[in-house]
Amino acid sequence: MQSFQHGEFTDFIQWHDMDGNIINASDGGVIYAEGKYHWYGMALRPLGEGTDGTGGEVTDTGVVMYASEDLLNWQYEGVILPCTDIEGHPLCAPMRFERSKIIYNEKTKKYVFWCHYVKCPGDHGVADGTAEAGVAVCDRVNGTYTWVGTHRPIDRDGAVKDMTLFKDADGTAYLIYDRREVDAEKGRAIHIVKLTEDYLSPTDTYRKIDEAAVREAPAVFYHDGYYYMITSGVTGWAMNRAKYFRTKDLMSEWEDMGDPCVGDGADITYASQTTYVFKVEGEDRFIHMAERHNRENFLHCAYVWLPIEFGENGTLCLKYLKEWK
Ligand code: GAL
Repeated sequence: MQSFQHGEFTDFIQWHDMDGNIINASDGGVIYAEGKYHWYGMALRPLGEGTDGTGGEVTDTGVVMYASEDLLNWQYEGVILPCTDIEGHPLCAPMRFERSKIIYNEKTKKYVFWCHYVKCPGDHGVADGTAEAGVAVCDRVNGTYTWVGTHRPIDRDGAVKDMTLFKDADGTAYLIYDRREVDAEKGRAIHIVKLTEDYLSPTDTYRKIDEAAVREAPAVFYHDGYYYMITSGVTGWAMNRAKYFRTKDLMSEWEDMGDPCVGDGADITYASQTTYVFKVEGEDRFIHMAERHNRENFLHCAYVWLPIEFGENGTLCLKYLKEWK
């Protein structure tokens, strides 16, 4: 592939790996490690095998990874966190690893994986085992990750929904997640929780980001004095307007900055939902990864990757490009 291809908002352009297969890495992220970019996510199960496209999609396979040097051409590297067929095992298929994210821990020299874990059967409720943060770990970026277990940070009254990880320059890492109170009347907001030094558990240090109430799909990154968080609204797989927040201190107030998108399609984030933001290695450039969900056939969702533009006074802008290099 020579350039990123997104087409019209109504297009679902397929992105193939170097073996010619459709890239199937739902809701994941990209990590630069061992000299390459690694793109990972949940491998969705094909339509017609018990999925109806509502309330989240499932996997029989697990989490997969692809590697690339140019961000356009991706080599399939295989399953890094496999499902099993052992009844009662936490990874017994079918199940879900939603919003998978991986960061590297310099102290323990391990790659640490977190996701919104949903066992099956179990839909997007608040029941035990269906709204947890799941953790896995590996010595190699593309090795087979070992399942560590699940957490509900802060307390069990808060279900874990969409989430992301953020590693700060000093090596401190955070879980940022949509906490939905089990008692629905108590509401829902993005929370930020500091992780332990090994990144395997949440600590008691957290902040409820009241400014980001009823938001999901958070992606957090740092640029030139500000921490930014881009989020979506809460409308399931239906597209909605993005909104971003910024702060100079992760554990203090976040400023509501409005919609980073402009022009046609801004009201639906150009028919996509944020997945992750990563920095281009060695450059002061960031890419916003999003997914154009295809409820008719989740294997034909499209990945919409756009460059983030930094404006004056710490503002962000995400312009739609049908094609770009
Ligand atoms: C989306 C959410 C996804 C998934 C989906 C299920 O809004 O961002 O991660 O949970 O809802 O309906």
